[in-house]
Amino acid sequence: MHSDWEQHYREGHMPWDKGQAAPPLLEYLERHEPPVGRILVPGCGLGHDVRALAQASPGSEVIGLDISPTAVSKAKEMAAVGRETYVEGDLFALPEEWSGSFDAFWEHTCFCAIDPGMRDAYVAAVTGLLRPGGIFFAVFYLDPYDDEHQAGDGPPHGVTAEELDARFGRDFVIEDRWTPTRSYAGREGCEEVRRYRRK
Ligand SMILES: C[S@@+](CC[C@H](N)C(=O)[O-])C[C@H]1O[C@@H](n2cnc3c(N)ncnc32)[C@H](O)[C@@H]1O
Repeated sequence: MHSDWEQHYREGHMPWDKGQAAPPLLEYLERHEPPVGRILVPGCGLGHDVRALAQASPGSEVIGLDISPTAVSKAKEMAAVGRETYVEGDLFALPEEWSGSFDAFWEHTCFCAIDPGMRDAYVAAVTGLLRPGGIFFAVFYLDPYDDEHQAGDGPPHGVTAEELDARFGRDFVIEDRWTPTRSYAGREGCEEVRRYRRK
């Protein structure tokens, strides 16, 4: 179980941290225009994805959010590459003034990290933080299971494409979805990238 995130960062035990940005994000940024404006990266950990976005989109304000103070402090120690910042906070208890203030939202390994019972709250948080017309851009870890890690064991928690359709279909229009050709080792074929636009 990784539910005590802060303890994991303090002990330096972060098997999810691969020391580089998510390959599906890098693949996207090599092939397409980056998202622009004010961009939120929830559950950013040490901020590899934050910096990839800030480098690709130099005029953008990229904000990495994490509930772990140690993760945020370590992210802040990394050399700046653009207009990125890091904030300690809980995705489910953010300041009211953040409502509707983001142009884009990059999800990677936050949705699979939270308890599945929090998924309604997750959708509400994304919907509330994005402005109408804003982009919700995500790589979902559909199937993280193997012989040693089964559904119900704790994070990462898998999700089906059908559940994603049901959860995001009301407030978002799906613009594109694909299986990335590049993934971290062991995640090949287990992820799906989706680009949604908030209604
Ligand atoms: C599996 S880790 C992924 C970290 C990073 N995205 C990466 O791939 O290295 C999940 C992250 O989500 C953070 N997290 C969990 N619940 C959160 C919440 N409610 N609000 C903000 N961050 C949260 C954890 O502290 C942790 O850094």
